[in-house]
Amino acid sequence: MSVAEQWNFAGPGVLCEPRGDEPRKPGKLSAMSSNKPKMPVRIREMREEDLDAVLAIEVEAFPVPWSAANFWSELGFPGISHLLVAEPEDKPGAVAGYACYSLIVDEAHITNFAIRNEHRRRGVGEQLLLSLIKRARSQGACSATLEVRVSNEAATRLYSKFGFAAAATRKRYYPDNKEDALVMWVLFGSEDRDSPESG
Ligand SMILES: CC(C)(COP(=O)(O)OP(=O)(O)OC[C@H]1O[C@@H](n2cnc3c(N)ncnc32)[C@H](O)[C@@H]1OP(=O)(O)O)[C@@H](O)C(=O)NCCC(=O)NCCS
Repeated sequence: MSVAEQWNFAGPGVLCEPRGDEPRKPGKLSAMSSNKPKMPVRIREMREEDLDAVLAIEVEAFPVPWSAANFWSELGFPGISHLLVAEPEDKPGAVAGYACYSLIVDEAHITNFAIRNEHRRRGVGEQLLLSLIKRARSQGACSATLEVRVSNEAATRLYSKFGFAAAATRKRYYPDNKEDALVMWVLFGSEDRDSPESG
């Protein structure tokens, strides 16, 4: 199964249902990073030599992990697919987490996002998401979207902190346990462009 197929997997009879009174209304880029002390990381583009570390995190983080072929496939679409890693400042070459997104016209589709277990709750996710948003905006994105398991409170809270809002539910989206996905969106307002945090 290709990456695209894996992440767009819906299966027969799967619906994308609007949520709430205002269906499909995206959130607006907001609050962003907290002032809590964070583990210092450098966000840079993923390289071939990062793949072993990335795959180890992938297996730790997800019940249906991407394979090396999935990452290779993404790396093969420069300009469309963007892969970032968070490298600990005190451990050059190591990988604390990574994020992947595809730029589709003016939408950034976040397709993968994970932080190594031992580095979680230390602000790495926030730094990575902030960098992803800055990069996507500088590449012309006006909004960002992703799917997240309804049970994934950690990720949902992280995304909500940045203004992502649940706009719809994809029923039985995940192939392993048929769990629903929340479809979350955020719009990048033009007034955010000058804010120091949104760069
Ligand atoms: C979700 C994930 C990326 C968060 O990364 P992280 O580096 O631990 O997140 P941060 O330390 O930057 O936390 C930022 C915010 O996210 C939320 N958050 C993170 N972990 C949380 C948890 N375990 N429970 C509740 N909220 C959590 C909080 O709002 C937190 O802000 P706070 O510290 O001010 O409360 C990480 O838990 C992970 O890799 N999970 C497995 C993979 C995954 O679920 N990826 C997302 C797929 S859509």
